[in-house]
Amino acid sequence: MKKVITFGTFDVFHIGHVSILERAKSYGDYLIVGVSSDDLNFSKKGCKPIYSEKDRRKIIKSLSCVDEVFSETSLDLKRQYINDFNAEILIMGDDWKGKFDNHKDQCEVIYLPRTPSISTKKIIEVVKSTE
Ligand code: CTP
Repeated sequence: MKKVITFGTFDVFHIGHVSILERAKSYGDYLIVGVSSDDLNFSKKGCKPIYSEKDRRKIIKSLSCVDEVFSETSLDLKRQYINDFNAEILIMGDDWKGKFDNHKDQCEVIYLPRTPSISTKKIIEVVKSTE
């Protein structure tokens, strides 16, 4: 069984998130998703997600293309996560292009094009501007 792993915050779930997860699954048989903890997201993006980490994990787990979900608590643990889950492929959106090439000794690393014109940040900005 070919295992694929990907990571992200997946806050305010949107079509770009579904699209990358469906495409990621198509590269293997079993999709594992590391969902950033609230603390990790704060350190990455400087803000707390709108949805709690428990809810974000529940949403991702409910998708038919996703087989397993775990909480990603540190960016420094990627090597360990990939090993522990025996992932053969790491997939990330191309906003991360090149950033995970150091894992090429562990697994195949693939960057997929982002869905244009949508992001969590943009959605939050639009909602705030209409308040
Ligand atoms: N992603 C994508 N297309 C988009 C938005 C996100 O393919 N339009 C992918 C990212 O490349 C990443 C995964 O979805 O692999 C999770 O990204 P995340 O950072 O949680 O989503 P964004 O919407 O980009 O969030 P933000 O605007 O807060 O950065």
